[in-house]
Amino acid sequence: MDHFHYRDRALFCEDVAVADLATEYGTPLYVYSRATLLHHLRQIQTAFAAAEPLICYSLKTNGNIHIGRLMAEHGAGFDVTSGGELYRALASGGVGEKIVFAGVGKTDDEIRTALDVNIRFFNVESEEELANIGEIARSRGQKARVALRVNPDLPPKTHVKTDTSVKGVKFGLDIETVVEVAGQYVGHPSVEIVGLHMHLGSPILSVEPYRMGAAKALDLIEKLRRQGHRVTHLNMGGGFGIHYRKQEALPASAFAEVLVPAAKQSGCQLVLEPGRFIVGNAGILLSRVLYTKSTGGKHYVIQDAAMNDLIRPTLYESFHRIWPVRPADGFPAPPSDYEVEIPGTRRCDVVGPVCESGDFLARERWLPPVSRGELLATFSAGAYGMSMSSNYNGRPRAAEVLVDGSRHRLIRRRETYEDLVRPEREVPA
Ligand code: LLP
Repeated sequence: MDHFHYRDRALFCEDVAVADLATEYGTPLYVYSRATLLHHLRQIQTAFAAAEPLICYSLKTNGNIHIGRLMAEHGAGFDVTSGGELYRALASGGVGEKIVFAGVGKTDDEIRTALDVNIRFFNVESEEELANIGEIARSRGQKARVALRVNPDLPPKTHVKTDTSVKGVKFGLDIETVVEVAGQYVGHPSVEIVGLHMHLGSPILSVEPYRMGAAKALDLIEKLRRQGHRVTHLNMGGGFGIHYRKQEALPASAFAEVLVPAAKQSGCQLVLEPGRFIVGNAGILLSRVLYTKSTGGKHYVIQDAAMNDLIRPTLYESFHRIWPVRPADGFPAPPSDYEVEIPGTRRCDVVGPVCESGDFLARERWLPPVSRGELLATFSAGAYGMSMSSNYNGRPRAAEVLVDGSRHRLIRRRETYEDLVRPEREVPA
């Protein structure tokens, strides 16, 4: 469910005509719906309520502090993966006790800052990192709380570039070694093992991996407790999939049916780190058609958003629905299925201005005729869109707008050309 819908054949975000936003803020433009964001957060909160979970919104998904603030105001904590994200979490009103910190390469500075703000725990990814956190905590007279991130070695479950729980990926401790590593930290003066962490991959469209992962986690927790660790947190990460093509994703309740009983059985507090589920369908990328052309038997729609704005199609061959903001008469608004031929449409590649053949938002897509100046919406772009954007090809990053009912406000201004060169100008001559 989201709040992007066609009204009288024009696309609206909640009660705002998207075309008006393009006029006011320019394109390319990320447009987010507050109601959709909160709806999805609430779905998770409700589905998992029986486990009284700590829901740590995964900031890498979309780090905008205004979105972060909404999350914090509505009860979420944060999952961060760098000092920069920790900074964003705090700037969003996050508090240490609701922040968890994952990532295979935490620097000493990042570890110190996280200890400064007394985060809930580190999700530790290697033996050396554990030793280092222990050493830093010792030198400060502190005790660091950690959850051991385990790679549960499950079958492939999503795109190879985002599957984090198959054998041989860089994440977490090998499942065979966890107990042995933990054994060295029983009664340790500066490290307290308070949890077990698994982030299985993203996006995941089935509950089976969670069922398998949770079973392995329960077994490990029991073993760690027998060693003498007081394990109080079961962190099952994020990964819940969303509707990119049709209605292919599972509701939060499906995951809860597996994870709530597992958390109860473990006697642990459940921690979740959802990102995409909350913000993915709460955002679109709005762009304007610059030119159309046909070459080599192919049709191209060239518009002003590019791989630097949304890299997912280029990087993962991801499918994002794309449709005109105001489709020509005779065309659906919107189609019920974007993947079958729609009468009167033709197959087009939707591309941007960047100088790479891999710069596309969609390939071989059925689209109504569009012409210069028309607006296109790329849907389900709220997650890993803006957060993975870059300045490649000298392109300032897009602006971001948050819609709330009939109101809207800028939550990130469009970058300027001067923004592009400022860090170079500011170095000493
Ligand atoms: N927790 C950890 C430790 C993670 O690494 C991630 C995502 C999450 C939580 C949030 O996962 P989510 O709930 O959003 O699925 N750029 C890729 C996705 C990379 C995911 C990285 N880790 C994409 O655009 O599909």
